[in-house]
Amino acid sequence: MKAIVVTDQAAGTAGMTLMERPDPEPALNDVVVQVHASGFVPTELAWPSTWTDRLGRDRTPSIPGHELAGVVSALGYGTTGLSLGQRVFGLTDWTRDGTLAEYVAVEARNLAPLPGDVDFAVGASLPISGLTAWQGLFEHGRLRTGQSVLVHGAAGAVGSMVTQLAREFGAYVIGTGRAADRQTALDFGAHEFVDLGSEALEDVGGVDLVFDVIGGDIGKRSAGLIRAGGTLVSVVGPSEARPADGLAIDFVVMPDRAQLDEIVQRVRGGRLRTNIGNVADLDDAVAALNPTKRITGKTIIRARS
Ligand SMILES: NC(=O)c1ccc[n+]([C@@H]2O[C@H](COP(=O)([O-])OP(=O)(O)OC[C@H]3O[C@@H](n4cnc5c(N)ncnc54)[C@H](OP(=O)(O)O)[C@@H]3O)[C@@H](O)[C@H]2O)c1
Repeated sequence: MKAIVVTDQAAGTAGMTLMERPDPEPALNDVVVQVHASGFVPTELAWPSTWTDRLGRDRTPSIPGHELAGVVSALGYGTTGLSLGQRVFGLTDWTRDGTLAEYVAVEARNLAPLPGDVDFAVGASLPISGLTAWQGLFEHGRLRTGQSVLVHGAAGAVGSMVTQLAREFGAYVIGTGRAADRQTALDFGAHEFVDLGSEALEDVGGVDLVFDVIGGDIGKRSAGLIRAGGTLVSVVGPSEARPADGLAIDFVVMPDRAQLDEIVQRVRGGRLRTNIGNVADLDDAVAALNPTKRITGKTIIRARS
C-alpha cells in the first residue's frame, strides 16, 4: 500500500516520504480499515509515541496520522460490533502505524459508525478535535450551563469545537487567538474575542473554565483568571501555574465510541461545524502537510477519491 512514512525526528514534516509499505494485518480485536480520509495534528512528530512503542523501542519507519474515516476491509479474531464494508471513523492507537496510508489496523472499539450522509473528509476531521473538546469540557472541566469559558486558539481545530460545544451547553464563551481569527471565532459562537497579540488577557476578568491549546506564558497567565472552584484544562502538557482555588488538569484524548456518536449526530443536525482548512490527495500529502502559507483549520488527506 501507499503510505506517508517518517524516519527522522529532527527533520519534522519535511522528512515525510510517500512510499510503498506492507498492508497491515489485523491483530486480536482489530479491524483493518481502507482509509478514505485522514487527519493529522501538526505536533505529532514531536510526540514520543510517533517514534517508539510503549516499551520505548524504536518503531521507525512510522506512519503518522491518528484519525480516519473509511470502510472496514478485514476483521481480526475476536472482533465484534463492526462488519465488513461498514463506514467508520475514529481515533487510532498512538504507538502503532497510523492513518496517512491506504489501510490501517486499529482496535475496533476505537471506531464508531460513520453515517452514510457524512462525507469521509468531514468524518476524518472530527475524532481528535471533537473528542478533545468533548472530554476537556465535560469530563475534565465539568462544564455547567451558565458558566464562562475562556477558549484559547478558538479559531483552530480543537478551539472551534470547544467554542461550539460550550456555546451549545449554555456557557458564556470568550475566544482568543490571532487578530485575523476574530471573525472566525465569533462565527463559531464565541461571545467575545481577545486578540492575544494586542489585547490584555487579564482584562477578561474571572472565568470558570480555561481550555488551553497554546500553553507557555498564555497558560501560566490564564491560571490567574480562574474563579474559585474553576478549572484550567490543558491539552498541551501540565500548566506552569495552578489556579489559586481551583484545579489544573492536563490530559490526552481517548477513543470513545459513544462520544463520537454524539459528535457526528451534531454535525448531521447542523449544530456542529467542522473546521477543515485544506483537503489534498495522498499523492500530494507531503506538500500539503508542509504548507508555505498559514492555513487555519485541519488539513485532511484523501487516500481514495
Ligand atoms: N492532549 C491532547 O489530547 C491533544 C489533542 C488535540 C490537540 N492537542 C494539541 O493542541 C494544540 C492545538 O491543536 P489544534 O489542532 O487545535 O491546532 P490549530 O488548529 O493550529 O489551532 C491552534 C490555534 O491557536 C492559535 N495560536 C497558537 N499559538 C498562539 C499564540 N501564541 N497567540 C495567538 N494564537 C495562537 C493558532 O494560530 P496559528 O495557526 O496562527 O498559530 C490556531 O488558530 C496542539 O499543540 C496539539 O498538539 C492535544
